[in-house]
Amino acid sequence: MIFDLHPKETIEELVGREKEVEHCISQILSKNWIIIGGQREIGKTSLMKVVINEIKKREQIAGIYINLRGVRSLNSLLTILVSEINKEKISWRFKVNINFLITSAGIEIRGGSKRRVVNSLIELLNSSDEIVIAFDEVQELSFASKQFLDILGNVYATNPKVHMIFSGSYVGLVKALLSPPSDSPLHGRPPTEIRL
Ligand SMILES: Nc1ncnc2c1ncn2[C@@H]1O[C@H](COP(=O)(O)OP(=O)(O)OP(=O)(O)O)[C@@H](O)[C@H]1O
Ligand SMILES: [Mg+2]
Repeated sequence: MIFDLHPKETIEELVGREKEVEHCISQILSKNWIIIGGQREIGKTSLMKVVINEIKKREQIAGIYINLRGVRSLNSLLTILVSEINKEKISWRFKVNINFLITSAGIEIRGGSKRRVVNSLIELLNSSDEIVIAFDEVQELSFASKQFLDILGNVYATNPKVHMIFSGSYVGLVKALLSPPSDSPLHGRPPTEIRL
């Protein structure tokens, strides 16, 4: 189905990207975060989705894909993240207690936690067992660049079991990720860039 207009999800459908898939996987297993760049329609989303699926299959590492298009607040990011975790049925991999409740349906955001959204995101991510999280269209979060970079910096420094893959247009937040500000824990350790 090469002419299907949706991003590809399986390695069998992805044509001519074997090297990129293997490179991404080895970077993730080496605990490096990745940023996938390249012009429109080149296959960034497809590569992210295939890498998540392959890591799941080969290494039994959980994976979540989040498209940030239209995400206008960190609270909606938190809601989407929790709902993806519940959808994937991997809530047991998160040892949360302060800002969240564990119910039979999965993780629930405690009342009031949304006022502490930065802390809540940090708690959630830092409590996670081995996981790959792909954030697509990262430039959409540029309105919250400083806070998002702080969250990422905290998680990078605290929980080596969280592996991040980013993609998006080379503006705003994507540029900041590639050259993190000097007060960020990501400074000097930008994600590995994979340019398609
Ligand atoms: N290696 C590939 N093999 C087969 N189809 C591909 C490949 N790369 C991209 N495509 C196809 O090209 C189209 C664009 O791919 P995709 O959405 O992954 O690109 P993108 O870089 O994320 O695009 P955008 O810039 O719009 O976000 C889709 O129809 C996808 O199925
Ligand atoms: Mg895309």
